Amino acid sequence: MKSSNYSHVIRIVLGIVALAFLGFIGKTVLTPKSFGTYGHYRADAIEEEANIEIRHWTNAPCFSCHAYEANIHLNGRHKTISCEFCHGPYADHITNGKKTGTLSVKRGEEIKTLCLRCHNRAIQARPEAVIKTVTMPEHLESQKVKVTHICNQCHNQHAPLKYINRAQEIVGMQEKS
Ligand code: HEC
Ligand code: HEC
Ligand code: HEC
Ligand code: HEC
Repeated sequence: MKSSNYSHVIRIVLGIVALAFLGFIGKTVLTPKSFGTYGHYRADAIEEEANIEIRHWTNAPCFSCHAYEANIHLNGRHKTISCEFCHGPYADHITNGKKTGTLSVKRGEEIKTLCLRCHNRAIQARPEAVIKTVTMPEHLESQKVKVTHICNQCHNQHAPLKYINRAQEIVGMQEKS
């Protein structure tokens, strides 16, 4: 019988036509409106990205309102560190140039955790030439203090060598006289 010899071919052809039709419908329905306006991407994506609210900023706006901290920060070894790393994003604090939210301020034990995120020698990928690291509790033992000491009892968080340099100056002056 002739027809049965060709029925499988017809099924395949019909299958391909059906798939092509579904593909066409899929493409027209699923392709976003602005696709291809400028190139092989969605043109609206540019405007959407540009309209996302900025969450992070440089240190400059912080300096303008926090002159006291700015002055210490700019004259210490932490001058290259972003205020936001330790306090959180600008957008949680300021809207349209006014204070609208409270930023996090670490206290006590939390300060240790914060400092050791950058200064822990256990993190192998921290060459000493780039950032000085310490081992705990050896660092405190070498200073002959209890291991319950918090880092900023000796290091000002905004200029970590401020007090230590001053103390060494005083000790130096005493030795000379
Ligand atoms: C290395 C982390 C670190 C960086 C960088 C840093 N801070 Fe701080 N800051 C702290 C810690 C920790 C305290 C809390 C100290 C304490 O209470 O003893 C603090 C306290 C403050 C306070 C006082 C808040 C309060 O209620 O006591 C202000 C204001 C402040 N920082 C602003 C800034 C600004 C502005 C910058 C950038 C110029 C900055 N900080 C950079 C860690 C940091
Ligand atoms: C428009 C001014 C303004 C700007 C800009 C600003 N602050 Fe503040 N900030 C304030 C005021 C006002 C307070 C509350 C009084 C105070 O502690 O001096 C405050 C308080 C803080 C505190 C204490 C916790 C709190 O929220 O009350 C921290 C920490 C702080 N600011 C950090 C920052 C950092 C970091 C930046 C930059 C990302 C920044 N500020 C930018 C005005 C500002
Ligand atoms: C975001 C990472 C970061 C955090 C958090 C941080 N530091 Fe630093 N710190 C640095 C960098 C970077 C330097 C500059 C490079 C250097 O001198 O090692 C530095 C410098 C120092 C120095 C001077 C080292 C030297 O002899 O040059 C001390 C001390 C120090 N930090 C202590 C602290 C303490 C204490 C805290 C917590 C309050 C802290 N740091 C939090 C990154 C960080
Ligand atoms: C009892 C005071 C004291 C405390 C608490 C303290 N430090 Fe120090 N730290 C010092 C002194 C003093 C030096 C300078 C040592 C020197 O010049 O040999 C120093 C040096 C450093 C250095 C530079 C190391 C280097 O190789 O030059 C880093 C980083 C540091 N401290 C981080 C911390 C961190 C993080 C904490 C909290 C976990 C902390 N310190 C707690 C006194 C202290």
